[in-house]
Amino acid sequence: MSPLPERDPTLLRSHQWFGKDDLRSFGHRSRLKGMGFDDIDYQGRPIVAILNTWSELNTCHSHFRNRADEVRRGILQSGGFPVEVPVMSLGEMMMKPTTMLYRNLLAMEVEEVLRCHPIDAAVLMGGCDKTVPAMIMGAISADIPSIFMPAGPMLRARWKDQTLGSGSDAWKYWDQRLAGNLCDRDWNQIENCIASSAGTCMTMGTASTMACVAEAMGWTLPGAATIPAVVAEHSRLAVATGRRAVEMAWENFRPSNFMTTQSIDNGLTTSLAIGGSTNAIVHLIAIAGRMEHELTLQRFDELSRTTPVIGDLRPSGRFLMQDFFEAGGLSALLVRIEELLHLNAKTVSGRTLGEQIAGAEVINDEVIRPRDNPVAPAGGVCLLRGNLAPNGCVIKSIAASKKLMHHRGKAVVFEDYPDMKARINDDALEVDENSVLLLRSAGPLGAPGFPEWGMLPIPKKLLRAGVTDMVRLSDARMSGTSYGTCVLHISPESAAGGPLSLVQTGDDIEINLPERTIHWHVDDAEIERRRAISPKPPALAERGYLKLFANHVTQADQGCDFDFLTGRSPGQDPAIH
Ligand code: FES
Ligand code: MG
Repeated sequence: MSPLPERDPTLLRSHQWFGKDDLRSFGHRSRLKGMGFDDIDYQGRPIVAILNTWSELNTCHSHFRNRADEVRRGILQSGGFPVEVPVMSLGEMMMKPTTMLYRNLLAMEVEEVLRCHPIDAAVLMGGCDKTVPAMIMGAISADIPSIFMPAGPMLRARWKDQTLGSGSDAWKYWDQRLAGNLCDRDWNQIENCIASSAGTCMTMGTASTMACVAEAMGWTLPGAATIPAVVAEHSRLAVATGRRAVEMAWENFRPSNFMTTQSIDNGLTTSLAIGGSTNAIVHLIAIAGRMEHELTLQRFDELSRTTPVIGDLRPSGRFLMQDFFEAGGLSALLVRIEELLHLNAKTVSGRTLGEQIAGAEVINDEVIRPRDNPVAPAGGVCLLRGNLAPNGCVIKSIAASKKLMHHRGKAVVFEDYPDMKARINDDALEVDENSVLLLRSAGPLGAPGFPEWGMLPIPKKLLRAGVTDMVRLSDARMSGTSYGTCVLHISPESAAGGPLSLVQTGDDIEINLPERTIHWHVDDAEIERRRAISPKPPALAERGYLKLFANHVTQADQGCDFDFLTGRSPGQDPAIH
């Protein structure tokens, strides 16, 4: 697509709705008039939609009402006509069983909302984990000019003399409480202060990882990913994003104009360099799928072997997002890994990534580490393969214990999450620190929805004995704020008949991170014997969205998108008919 010549409004997409002398257009115009708008408000102007995932049940987006008004201000300043359009909000903190069940639903909604309305460009307002990939996936498929406006992280939280990070410290202090080291009063005080403000989790969880990935792939204005949600700069970002969206409408600057396989690589390299969430793997595969680009786990592993982790950020490092922002933000970090990036990749600003980050300065070498003093020289995330995971599984090695990187132990199997919850803290459970905790029925189909159950709790009796980490295996995901030696995304999952479904308590399992292997020490004949007698899992659902999900979701190594959603459908734009 090329820029609209001389800003000719008759070439805007919305002209198909408002610019014609026919009965349908009369209807569209008269209803806008009914809302109190005059011709001058919208005629000849790009219509810019603010796709807002605000909801009172999404705590991370509680400032989005105000931010939407600020985006609106920017759109008006640049001569656009702003329209705010609510789309499904996916808030991690309130939704059960998991927001991941609905990522594709939001992606479908974004795609169809963009396609069916008189929209020339869109500002995508998201932040809490799944909203980021969902909105980007939908916008790629609709291929209508779009810019992403991240919610921004919460401010750092303080309790007594401790800095608290969301997620990570909740797990940490909960373990302390189970071990009997934390009184009710302290626990209550932590509850009162750990969520310090509006905004997303302020550790390098999935939300911040995906915001950084979005920025590195070119979806935001420079610096957007790390600006805390409630500082004045975040408001200014919102206004500037609105202004830019109007220009993008005139330029007809679509996702297909800047999203390339190089952008995907930039996102991937960034997620590794910041020590980001393993969830980025699943989302990036799905995002690439919308561009008909087959991104493999192998590619992650390749880049992981050469990308140093230089963001010293919790949960794998020491600092919080506000520290990252104050240290120079993502642009400063990217300058430090410049030669690993495709600097010619385009961004929504119309400039290249290289131009975008040029001159960015690191203010604090503790937070954004120099290349000769990284958090880890490489290998933030590892892909493992073996007879337990024929299609691969992943581990955030940077957040795992060194002494468990090569480990062999006896499996303690939990059939599903309720079984795990019922038995994990039972003092009669036969388990020791060398055991391998294994949870199944927690994948895309099993749970359903691929929940973040992968950081299985350490049994209480072992916590009391001072154990802080164990090898844990599952077909689940893990929150980006979690940590520990947790092997995740085992594919195929147990509910799809993967080998995980056949493991029994007492089987020997070995993981070897340096060799990138996972081995289940049971011979093939025994595996076949077990398979022959293993029952077929029941159908997930007879009706509704769950049935659609069950029939079409792909496995973890394929990104868990619906099989019928890969690619774009430019021919389906009703504006061209
Ligand atoms: Fe929304 Fe963590 S709960 S970002
Ligand atoms: Mg999360």
